Amino acid sequence: PSGDRVRIVEVGPRDGLQNEKGIIPLAMKIEFIERLAKTGLRDIEAGAFVSPKWVPQMADSSRILEHLLKAPPTSPYPINYPFLVPNLKGLKAALSVCEKLSPLSTTNGKTANSHQPDPERTPVNPVPAPQPTELSIFIAATDSFSLKNTNCTIAESLTRLDPVVTFATSLHIPIRAYISVVLGCPYDGPHVSPITVADLSNKLLDMGCSEISLGDTTGMGTAPRTQALFRILRDAGVPMEKLAGHFHDTYGQALVNCAVALDAGVRVLDSSVAGLGGCPYARGATGNVATEEVVYFLQSVGMEPGVDLGKIAEVGDWVSGVLGRENGSRVGKALLAR
Ligand code: HMG
Ligand code: MG
Repeated sequence: PSGDRVRIVEVGPRDGLQNEKGIIPLAMKIEFIERLAKTGLRDIEAGAFVSPKWVPQMADSSRILEHLLKAPPTSPYPINYPFLVPNLKGLKAALSVCEKLSPLSTTNGKTANSHQPDPERTPVNPVPAPQPTELSIFIAATDSFSLKNTNCTIAESLTRLDPVVTFATSLHIPIRAYISVVLGCPYDGPHVSPITVADLSNKLLDMGCSEISLGDTTGMGTAPRTQALFRILRDAGVPMEKLAGHFHDTYGQALVNCAVALDAGVRVLDSSVAGLGGCPYARGATGNVATEEVVYFLQSVGMEPGVDLGKIAEVGDWVSGVLGRENGSRVGKALLAR
C-alpha cells in the first residue's frame, strides 16, 4: 500500500564487486561505500569474510570493516554495514578486526585477549569493543549449488552455520541469512523445491537468524513462480516481515519479482546501484536489480524507500565509470541524460 516504508539493502560493494575480474583497489571500495552512505541508504553490505582462494575480490574485507569501525562515514542516522561469513573461521576473522580495535587489546606492544581482560588494565568504565552491526550467513536451496559455492551439502551447511549463529547472537550481532537459488539453480534448472526453501527459512529463523533474504541467484524467477513461492512460504508459517527479496536480473524479471514480493507483504529488497553483481558460482547470471530501478518504482507507487534517487543515480554512474562498465541502470541513465 501507498505510504508503506520499504528498506533497501544495497549489496553493491559485496555482490556488486565480488565477481569483478580486475583487482579493485581498497581505496576505491571504501570510496564507493562512503558515496553510498550519503544517499540516504541505511543498509550497505560492505564485504565478505570468505576464502580469498574462492573469491579473491573480497580478500580485503577485514581492512574495510576496520575502516568502517574506526572512521565510519558521517551520517545523521546509524548505517548498518553487514558482512558475509561462511563459517566460524569467517566469523572469527571479523571479530579479530574488532578485537584489534578494542581499547583493551594492546599494551606495551603485547596483544591481550579481550575476552579475558587483565583487571589491572581494565578501566572503571571500559569502552566496549566495536562490533560489526550485522553479519550474513548463506546457504542454498539445492545441494548442487551448495557444493559449488561452499563445498558442502545443505545439511552440512546447517551444521556448519549453527555455531556461527549461536556465537554471533551471543554477542548481540544480528544474523541475516541468505538462501540462494530459490527460483532456479545453474546446475539443477528452474524447478527448485519451494518446500525446501520454506523448510530452510523456518530452520534458519529457529536457529536465531533475524532475517531471511531469498536469493534468485540465476534470475530464473518469473512472476507466477515467485508468487507461488511466497504463497508456499506463508502456508508454511514463514512470517513475511522476516523476509527480504534478492533478485538478480539475468532475464529482465527482477523488478517484476520485486513487485510480486511487495504484493506478498515483503518490505525489504536487496539491490545494487547500476545493477552490478553476480555470483562467481552461477555462470552467466547477471547483476542484482538496480537500486535506481527499485527506488524509482517504489516512489511511483507511493512507497517510501527514504533515499535520494538523484544521488543514487550519480553513485551508479560513478562506479560504472570506475569499473569501466556500461551503467546497468536504465533509470540512472535516463536521469543523468536529462
Ligand atoms: P573449503 O575449501 O571447503 O574450506 O571452502 P576449508 O575449511 O576446507 O578450508 C580450506 C582453506 O580455506 C584453508 O586455507 C582455510 O583456512 C581457508 P589453507 O589451509 O588451504 O590455506 N578458509 C578461509 N579463509 C578465509 N576466510 C574463511 C575461510 N574458511 C576457510 N572464512 C568455504 C569452504 C566456505 C571457505 C569456501 O567455499 C568459500 O569461501 N566460499 C565462499 C563462496 C562465495 O563467497 N560465494 C559468493 C557469495 S554467496 C552469493 O553471492 C549469493 C548471494 O548473493 C545471494 C544470491 O544471490 O543467491 C548471497
Ligand atoms: Mg546475489
